[in-house]
Amino acid sequence: MIRLEPLTGHHDRNGFDCGVELLNVWLRQTALQHQGKGVSRTFVAVPADGAAARAWVQSGYLVETHDILGFYALTSAFVLPQDLPSRQAKRYPRQIPVTRLGRLATRSDMQGQGLGQLLLADAVNRARMAAQAVGSAGLFVDAKSEAAARFYQRYGFMPAADQPSKLFLSLWP
Ligand SMILES: CC(C)(COP(=O)(O)OP(=O)(O)OC[C@H]1O[C@@H](n2cnc3c(N)ncnc32)[C@H](O)[C@@H]1OP(=O)(O)O)[C@@H](O)C(=O)NCCC(=O)NCCS
Repeated sequence: MIRLEPLTGHHDRNGFDCGVELLNVWLRQTALQHQGKGVSRTFVAVPADGAAARAWVQSGYLVETHDILGFYALTSAFVLPQDLPSRQAKRYPRQIPVTRLGRLATRSDMQGQGLGQLLLADAVNRARMAAQAVGSAGLFVDAKSEAAARFYQRYGFMPAADQPSKLFLSLWP
């Protein structure tokens, strides 16, 4: 019912609202520009096809085929040992290549239905595949709120010792 695909100009970026204006504006104004320059890659959850969109409508949601139901963005980054959980920090050199999960959001009226979990799983899979070709110790996120940090911790992300908003999920044993 839901498809995950790279963001393009065909998706309705203006109609997306996750309740956090900063993230809405980033998707509207910055995501495609950054993608064009290779700064970040954004992936969106959309209805799989017309029938899926109609099924959402029948369930009471205002959904069209080009609507964005959720999104996330990945970039390459370096972090320092103090940005990682202390147990992990010891394993690495002074500058640690990571895949940064820059943004993750789902449509306000669809939150709490598993979409965030689906997007996060997709982000982890993509980061894991990319790390087979380009070095990346793990997935790193700087959570925008305590609630967001709790969400990531449910899925195994560990906070840095003195900076609980910074969370890390190793991609390697
Ligand atoms: C955070 C966010 C992406 C979660 O998406 P979602 O679609 O609501 O998440 P899901 O429905 O997949 O929830 C998965 C699990 O996480 C839990 N969860 C969701 N939001 C949570 C939160 N803020 N704090 C703690 N747990 C949370 C759910 O209860 C669910 O657990 P369950 O399976 O035991 O019921 C979404 O709430 C959102 O877009 N928030 C606004 C933007 C934001 O803060 N993004 C994070 C930026 S760093």
